[in-house]
Amino acid sequence: MEQHVSFQTKLLHNKWKMDPQTGAVSVPIQHASTFHQFDFDTFGKYDYSRSGNPTREALEETIAALEGGVRGFAFSSGMAAISTAFLLLSKGDHVLVTEDVYGGTYRMITEVLSRFGIEYTFVDMTDLHEVASHIRPNTKVIYVETPSNPLLKVTDIRGIVKLAKANGCLTFLDNTFMTPALQRPLDLGVDVVLHSATKFLSGHSDVVAGLAVVKDEELAKQLYKLQNSFGAVLGVQDAWLVLRGLKTLHVRLEQSSQSALAIARYLANHPKVEEVYYPGLTYHPGHAIQRYQASGFGAVLSFRLADEEAVRAFVKHVRIPVFAVSLGAVESILSYPAKMSHAAMPKEERERRGITDGLLRLSVGLEAADDLIADFEQALSYVKETSSSTVSAR
Ligand SMILES: Cc1ncc(COP(=O)(O)O)c(C=O)c1O
Repeated sequence: MEQHVSFQTKLLHNKWKMDPQTGAVSVPIQHASTFHQFDFDTFGKYDYSRSGNPTREALEETIAALEGGVRGFAFSSGMAAISTAFLLLSKGDHVLVTEDVYGGTYRMITEVLSRFGIEYTFVDMTDLHEVASHIRPNTKVIYVETPSNPLLKVTDIRGIVKLAKANGCLTFLDNTFMTPALQRPLDLGVDVVLHSATKFLSGHSDVVAGLAVVKDEELAKQLYKLQNSFGAVLGVQDAWLVLRGLKTLHVRLEQSSQSALAIARYLANHPKVEEVYYPGLTYHPGHAIQRYQASGFGAVLSFRLADEEAVRAFVKHVRIPVFAVSLGAVESILSYPAKMSHAAMPKEERERRGITDGLLRLSVGLEAADDLIADFEQALSYVKETSSSTVSAR
């Protein structure tokens, strides 16, 4: 009988724990692009590495097991995974999308899929009535990001799945912020889980990768065909890097999430910080749902300063985090969504979604939380007082 083990243990003790032939405790990197066929009539399991490669397969099987799916697919970036999944749609189909979705996904939907006759509507997914009211007869996919990027809005996954099933739609969910360590959307009824594995899954800012996982064999067949046809597969060195990063996912996220909560609490009490967005704060509107559907709050938070001038002063003086695009790494990463992750979104659209010029996003790494807080304290001392900052701070 198979012993039930925790997620933390599964990260290390799985099918890929050792190479059955040599005992090597690290998955071998198979560089071959093609494979000799020993039998003229019956080809072996592998023939060409776009269609299948043992190293990539190790990662695909690992993520499928961790997410509780039947099959995983590894792509050359998170956007390649997301774009390939969108190829399940056809001309005339409609997709409903989380309002403050990642900027690259927004660009793909509005500037690329739209040219192929795919219709879209962005909705505030925290409001299930709003979602229901936008479902059309041709709606084929409800696309969810929860918590969303960068405002950390929480969508009730079970509620969306119920609506989707009642209307014959698929549910796609970008699980980049949570990872299967904290949230397992397939268990809640989601059809396709997507990841930018560039982030927490690999965890070291040294690889760009994407993953998709499904729990239905028929959907797996379709997605495999699209992966092989579109061809945006992950290279083997990168697959290996993601596999290595995955081994420490649990401890990294646990530590970073703890620090994120401490930092969110600190920022929420700072008079120059107008608002803090972190589902771990008890007054966050999505706190209860997050507790219900996930086992943690994650390591990403956003906070609002008065304006761009305040942001400039803060970024100029802060010393520990890198100021960069991306998130989910061992080092803390401070991002400016207006000019980074959401630069692809027109200014009016951005601001309407609350992604204003004063908003900063922080992905908390493995530095000591006290060091980060001390750093923020000194950097915030350079930010000018504003009348609103003394009134609206929480
Ligand atoms: C939530 C989310 N989804 C998808 C992506 C795209 O992933 P990639 O940059 O690996 O293509 C990102 C990148 O920042 C992201 O934050």
